[in-house]
Amino acid sequence: MAKKKPVKAKAKSKKPVAKAKPARKPAPKTKAAAKPKIVAKKPNGNGSALPPVSKKPWGGDGKALTGVKILDFTHVQSGPTCTQLLAWFGADVIKVERPGIGDITRGQLRDVPNADSLYFTMLNHNKRSITLDSKSKQGMAVLERLVKTCDVLVENFAPGALDRMGLTWERINSWNPRMIVASVKGFGPGPYEDCKVYENVAQCAGGSASTTGFRDGPPLVTGAQIGDSGTGLHLALGIVAALFQRNRTGRGQKVLAAMQDGVLNLCRVKLRDQQRLKHGPLKEYSQFGQNIPFGSTVPRAGNDSGGGQPGWILKCKGWETDPNAYIYFITQAPVWEPICDLIGKPEWKTDPGYATPGARLPKLSAIFDTIEAWTKTKTKFEVMEACNAVDIPVGPILSMEELAEEKSLRETGTIVEVDHPTRGKYLSVGNPIKLSDSITEVTRSPLLGEHTDEILTKVLKFTPAEIAEIKASGATGDMAKKAAAE
Ligand code: COA
Repeated sequence: MAKKKPVKAKAKSKKPVAKAKPARKPAPKTKAAAKPKIVAKKPNGNGSALPPVSKKPWGGDGKALTGVKILDFTHVQSGPTCTQLLAWFGADVIKVERPGIGDITRGQLRDVPNADSLYFTMLNHNKRSITLDSKSKQGMAVLERLVKTCDVLVENFAPGALDRMGLTWERINSWNPRMIVASVKGFGPGPYEDCKVYENVAQCAGGSASTTGFRDGPPLVTGAQIGDSGTGLHLALGIVAALFQRNRTGRGQKVLAAMQDGVLNLCRVKLRDQQRLKHGPLKEYSQFGQNIPFGSTVPRAGNDSGGGQPGWILKCKGWETDPNAYIYFITQAPVWEPICDLIGKPEWKTDPGYATPGARLPKLSAIFDTIEAWTKTKTKFEVMEACNAVDIPVGPILSMEELAEEKSLRETGTIVEVDHPTRGKYLSVGNPIKLSDSITEVTRSPLLGEHTDEILTKVLKFTPAEIAEIKASGATGDMAKKAAAE
C-alpha cells in the first residue's frame, strides 16, 4: 500500500510535471516512486507530436527540404551558391530575374556563343526561372503573391536595393510573417555596410589576403571562392537553422551572412595566431627557423601548415615541366620514424637534434629540403602511395584536368555531366554534401524566363485573365509593351 500512494497522487494531478514540482513532497525511496511514469509517457519531451518513424525505403519520403519554397532573388555567385544547395536538398527554388537581362552571369565569361555561360549554368542547377520587373506595378503584384507563397526569400543585391524595390522587411513580414528573409551582403553593420563587394574584396577585408602568399611577397587572393561560395554556404546553414526554429515559433526572421564575416570565420586559425604572437614567436612558421623576427601581426606563411603539424609543398618527379608535379608533405609527429626510414635518414629517429618535434622546428626548411630530395625521385602519385602505406599524410597537387577526369568523383556525384539544350554537355561540381536519405539529382539550369507561365499558373494560381493582364503590362517580359502601357 505504502508503495502505491505517491503514484496515485501524481496521476490525479493535471498539472505539468515542472509546475507540480515545488508542491510535491520528496518521493519516498521505493521501487514504484523511482519509476517516473508521467515523464516516461513523453520520452522525447514532445508528447505525441512526434510522427512515427517512416517505413518507406531510402529516399522514399522525398528529399530533406521537399516542400520548402524559395523565392530566389540572387545573382552572380554568393547567393546562387546558397540557393543551388537548397535546391539540391529538395527545395523548390524559383529564381526571379530581370526581363531580357537575367542574372548578369548568363552572359559573362561566355565560351559558347548565344548559350548561357558556365558561370551561370554551374551555379543555377535545379532551379526554375521567372522573369519579372520588380519595379513595375504588376511585377510587384506578382512578387507579393510569391512572398505569400514561399517560405524563404534569398537575395544578395547591393545594400538597400531590396528596400528601394519596396520590399522592406516590414512589408514582407506583414505579407507573410512566416517568411525567412536571407541576405548576403559584403559587410555587416558598421562603417562599410553600404559598400558593394565582390569575391576578392571579401578575401582582402576578411583577413585571407593578408595571410596568404609568401612573407616577402605581396598579399595574395586564393582560387577557392571563399568570399562568394563560402558565404553562400554560411547563408544556407542560416536558412536551414531559421526554418528549423520556425517549426517551433511559427515566425520568420532575417538571416544575414556578411562576406567579410564568412571569410574571417574561415581564417579563424589566423586570428588564433594573432593572439599567440603576444606570447612569443610562432614556432611552426618557417620564418622562426630562418631567424626572421615577427612583427605585430600574423605574417604570410607561404605553404606552412596552419595547424600544429609542420608541412610544405615539395617538388616531385617531372616538376621541371609539369606545374602541378608537387605534393604537400606533412611531418606529423607520430609518423616521424616512418618518414625517416622512407627518405633514407634512419639516424634522425634517435638523433636528439631531430627526434622530437621541438628539436626539428628550427631546422624545418633543411628537413623539407632533404625530404624533397626524395620526393623528386618519384611522381606525386608514387609519393602518395609510399606515404599512405605507412600513414604519412600527403596531398598531391591535383590539377583541374586531373580532377575532371577523376573516376571516383564521378561515381560519387561530386563531379557530374549535365546536358543543356543550347550549350550541350558540360561538367559541373555536384552536391558536395551527401545525405544518405536525400538523393541529389543534378538537373540543368533554367533558360531565362523558362518557367514564367508555369509559375504564374501552377504555383501562384493566377487566373488566365490575370495572367493576360500581367503579360500585357510587360512585367514579365516584353519591355516594349511595358513602355507603351506607361
Ligand atoms: N527587376 C527590376 N530591377 C531589378 C531586378 C528585377 N527583377 N533585379 C534586380 N534589379 C535591380 C535592383 O533593384 C538594383 O536597382 P537599384 O540600384 O536601382 O536599386 C539593380 O538591379 C542592381 O542591383 P545591384 O545588386 O546593385 O547589382 P550590381 O551589379 O550593381 O552589383 C554586386 C553587384 C554583387 C556588387 C552587389 O549586388 C552586391 O554588393 N551584393 C552583395 C554582396 C554580394 O553578394 N557580392 C558577391 C556577388 S558574387
